[in-house]
Parts: sequence; structure tokens; C-alpha cells
Amino acid sequence: MKPLNVAIVGCGFMGRTHSNGYAQAPHFFESEYKPVLKAVCARNRENAQRFADVWGYESVETDWRELLKRDDIDAIDVCTPNHLHQEISVAAAEAGKMVLCEKPLAMNQAEGEAMCQAVEKAGVPNMVWYNYRRVPAVTLAKQLIDEGRLGKIFHYRANFLQDWTISADVPQGGAATWRLDADSAGSGVTGDLLAHCIDTAIWLNGGINDVTAMTETFVKERVHAETGEKKPVKIDDACSFLCHFENGSLGLFESTRYARGHKALYTFEINGENASIRWDLHDLHRLEFFDHHDDSVVRGWRSVHISDGDMPYMGNWWVPGLNIGYEHTFIHQVADFLKSLETGEPFHPSFRDALLTQKVCDAVLASANERAWKTV
Ligand SMILES: NC(=O)c1ccc[n+]([C@@H]2O[C@H](COP(=O)([O-])OP(=O)(O)OC[C@H]3O[C@@H](n4cnc5c(N)ncnc54)[C@H](O)[C@@H]3O)[C@@H](O)[C@H]2O)c1
Repeated sequence: MKPLNVAIVGCGFMGRTHSNGYAQAPHFFESEYKPVLKAVCARNRENAQRFADVWGYESVETDWRELLKRDDIDAIDVCTPNHLHQEISVAAAEAGKMVLCEKPLAMNQAEGEAMCQAVEKAGVPNMVWYNYRRVPAVTLAKQLIDEGRLGKIFHYRANFLQDWTISADVPQGGAATWRLDADSAGSGVTGDLLAHCIDTAIWLNGGINDVTAMTETFVKERVHAETGEKKPVKIDDACSFLCHFENGSLGLFESTRYARGHKALYTFEINGENASIRWDLHDLHRLEFFDHHDDSVVRGWRSVHISDGDMPYMGNWWVPGLNIGYEHTFIHQVADFLKSLETGEPFHPSFRDALLTQKVCDAVLASANERAWKTV
């Protein structure tokens, strides 16, 4: 087996999901490549060492620049808050490393363009962790749409609802709550949650032409976790937008961190001329399907349990009828990346693919700001 020597920057939530992906992929998916956990980088050496011990990384660094000087590292995995994605990714590409970057690609379109140029100029394999494409039920939805089973598509509807920032006591900035600080996050729910919905939508239903959006920041000031100072909140707490897709269908998207009772309710529904599809992250193994061609006396929504061996990814897991979970989307992403290295086929979503989502996010925020339709 050929080693793929990986260094990860950031050891929070995504650092864990990716490390698990590298560890598990070779157990379930055949490849001539095998990820080798070479180094983890975090600013605090003790934290980095603890993480390295748990996940089996061979070494630790406290400055990501040191990783780029090392010949024993092939790929840099960027699991940091959003404001560091561009700097680390561009420097990594310039050092000739493969770059695996978390989403959203960047803080804005200009940063995203620079990142695409850097990986393309260097000719290094690259990918962005829009992992929901690799939920087996979502991958199956893509197959059904590509087979033309829905016919002409009229509507695409997606929500991503949470409720964890309702209290005004939640700080901004610092560990975990960097998402509320515009300097680290770029935007609020638009880049954090809607970016996932937009990536899935573009993948399933094609490009987005134009958007009209509204955003709201319900809590206007929050204490900054690092300084203790109360500062204006500059991220969007909630965002809704309408759009036209290139295929003529209409889109309706909503995301908020103020939907009491919802922790991570990502849902989408697609309505076509012949059939409709519905999916829900809380019940991620089921794809709901309505086929108008069914005999009218038994016609209705069916709930298909995606676990049989001929369904996407499932032949590599346990036996029919058994579920897998959230973490498996990252394992699938690693497995498909290794496959792309083996075949030389480009991996999707690439930086260039993720730039499309970044452009929609920028247009959504500009539209909300200017209260006007915006062309993407
Ligand atoms: N694909 C998904 O579903 C998904 C889910 C959550 C987060 N994300 C994305 O992943 C990224 C990280 O989010 P998270 O939830 O893991 O955040 P987190 O706060 O849990 O972890 C971030 C890590 O980055 C580290 N870090 C910050 N500055 C650093 C620096 N200069 N050098 C090295 N390490 C540094 C922090 O110490 C922390 O370990 C974000 O871009 C986020 O948008 C994606």
C-alpha cells in the first residue's frame, strides 16, 4: 500500500471526524493508498499531544507553517475556523501539498478565487468537506434525479435549523463560539449552515442564477470570550432566501439558530413533474419518495430504508437492514478521495466546486444587506 501522509490543522469537532475518517476508511474500502497520521497542529502543545495520543498521530506542531517545511507530509487537512482557510490552503498548495479544506471554502468569494488559483497553479489534489453529499440516502437521491425519475424539477426547498444561540449569555469568539464572531466566521448561519444546503442543492439540482434574501441578528451585542468586552454581533443569526435555478426551478432556503427544539434539522424536498424526494438529517437513513406513476390505489409517499448492499456505499458496511451514521459521511469522503488519487480522476467537491457555493453565499448576504435581488 502507498502511504498518504496526512497532517491535520485544528483538533476540534472536525479534527475528530476527519481523524476517524482516515482511521476507518482502509478498514472498509479497498485502495492502494492508506492514510498515515503524521502530524497534528494546534496552538497549545498539550492539547495537540493529547489529541495525537488519542488518535495515533506520530508528531505534533504548534505552528502550521512547520508542517509545510516537512518532506514527510503529503496532505494538509484544514480544520480551523474559517478565517484561516485561505492563508493555510494557499501556503500549503504553494509548498506542493494536497489540500483538504473544511467548509465554507473561505470568508468570501475573493478569498475563494485565490484559493482555487493556488491549488490549480500548483496542480495539487484538493477537496472541500461538504460531507452531506456522502450520506447514502443523499447519494441515492442524486442517482434518482440523474436517471430522470423526477422529470422536470419545479421546486427545491431546504432548511437547516438549530436553537443553540437563543440565550444572550452565549459569548462570541473563542473556542466553539468563534462561529458568532464575524472576524473568525465571516458570516453566521449563511456560511455555517446554508452553505451545506447550497452545496447539496447545486449538486442535485444545478446552478443558481439569482437570489433575494433576508437576514436577522436577534441578539445585537454579546461578550467576547477572549477579551470579556461586550461587542456588537456582526453575524446573521437567521437567513432565508429565494432563488431561481438554471433549470427553471424555484428555490426556498431557511436557516436559523433560533428554532427552539431543533438541534441540527437539515431537511430538503424536491418536487418534480413525475416524482418528489424528501430527506431529513435526523432520520438520515431514509429517503422519502413519491412516484406519480404508481397505481393510484397504492400511490403515496414511501419511506425507503437505505441499507441494502446495492445502495450507495452500503455494500461496504454491515448487512442489509443495519444503519450507519453521521461519522460515516467523512469515512466515505476519505475513501472517495483515495480512489480519486488512484484513478487520477478529479475529486468532487473540489475547491472550484465549493467556490460556486461561496458565490451564492456572498450574493445572499449582499441581497439581504441591500434588500434587492442579486445575480450570482
Ligand atoms: N463539514 C461539516 O459538517 C462541518 C461541521 C462543523 C464544522 N465545520 C467546519 O470545520 C471548521 C472547524 O470547525 P470545528 O467545528 O471543528 O471548530 P472547533 O472550534 O471545534 O475546532 C477548531 C480548531 O481549530 C483550532 N485552531 C484555531 N486557530 C488555530 C491555529 N492558528 N493553528 C492551529 N489550530 C487552530 C482550535 O484550537 C480548534 O482545535 C470550520 O471551518 C467549520 O465551518 C464543518
